[in-house]
Amino acid sequence: MAKILTGIQSTGTPHLGNILGAILPAIKMANSSDEESYLFIANMHSLTQIKDKNTLTENTFSTAAAWLSFGLDPNKSCFFRQSDVPEVTELAWYLSCFFPYQRLKLAHSFKDKSDNLKEVNSGLFSYPMLMSADILLYDADIVPVGKDQLQHLEMTRDVATRFNKVMGEAFVIPKAKIQEETKYVTGTDGEKMSKSKNNIIDIFVDDKVLKKQIMKIQTESLSIEDAKDPQKCNVFKLYQLIAENGKVSKIKERYLSGGIGYGEIKGLLYSEILDKFSENRAKFFELQENKELVEELLINGSQRARQRAQIVLKRVRALVGY
Ligand code: TRP
Repeated sequence: MAKILTGIQSTGTPHLGNILGAILPAIKMANSSDEESYLFIANMHSLTQIKDKNTLTENTFSTAAAWLSFGLDPNKSCFFRQSDVPEVTELAWYLSCFFPYQRLKLAHSFKDKSDNLKEVNSGLFSYPMLMSADILLYDADIVPVGKDQLQHLEMTRDVATRFNKVMGEAFVIPKAKIQEETKYVTGTDGEKMSKSKNNIIDIFVDDKVLKKQIMKIQTESLSIEDAKDPQKCNVFKLYQLIAENGKVSKIKERYLSGGIGYGEIKGLLYSEILDKFSENRAKFFELQENKELVEELLINGSQRARQRAQIVLKRVRALVGY
């Protein structure tokens, strides 16, 4: 049976763009597939950028709570925290010793990040080796990732092949499965929604804050009576991703004929979001208040993950002669 594995960044609470673009399709895939799946929160990768204990802990919990509140089934997928499987750092070291420094220097992700940071630590540099270990440690066959992660996957395949050739067959060579973002989610400024652009809509906040974010969405300056092109309106673009088709068509007509104002459509978007995500938000807030439950689920997941990890690590250790 093929094994599917993917890592989830935990740099903050997932926003509407992450939810519609990545979380929902990933959960759908994990829940509908007969394959074994591993999903983990890459909280050791986060340490390359975040140096605050509370932030690191909180981000992990809120990421876990967000995935669980959208229906990730921890009985079906092995759901765990990277830092609960220390075997991964041992494997990352072995891999580092088989991968050329010159190739690591060519990683796009390192170049992009290091250009924008004051402090460039060596964890950021060896990030792809930890990621390779994440994948190879579980004999994963298929790794669903966004396009930006393809180079990391190439490095994983490369280092696994090098090790297999020099030391003997240890690793399954994994394949990337490109996850096209199923939906382009527009941010409050009309650009793609992204935390770094400060244009997000965060649904896991209280109603007032949510409303404020929606009111912030930038619009053209047309009056209520003016006819408007719905596809040019940032509020409409979000509305059509959330509301059901019938409602969307009616609103579209009102845009084209004139007679709808930005205040009204923002109010409609707000109620759609409250409505559509009411269960997920309730579940999220409940899990936030019930961290022991999340902790227990994650610990359970890591116990299953470690069993698998130890089998692979034993194989590697034997080949290295340890
Ligand atoms: N680097 C990935 C990202 O930024 C997260 C990640 C860490 C990952 N380890 C992984 C993804 C292993 C897939 C497999 O999105």
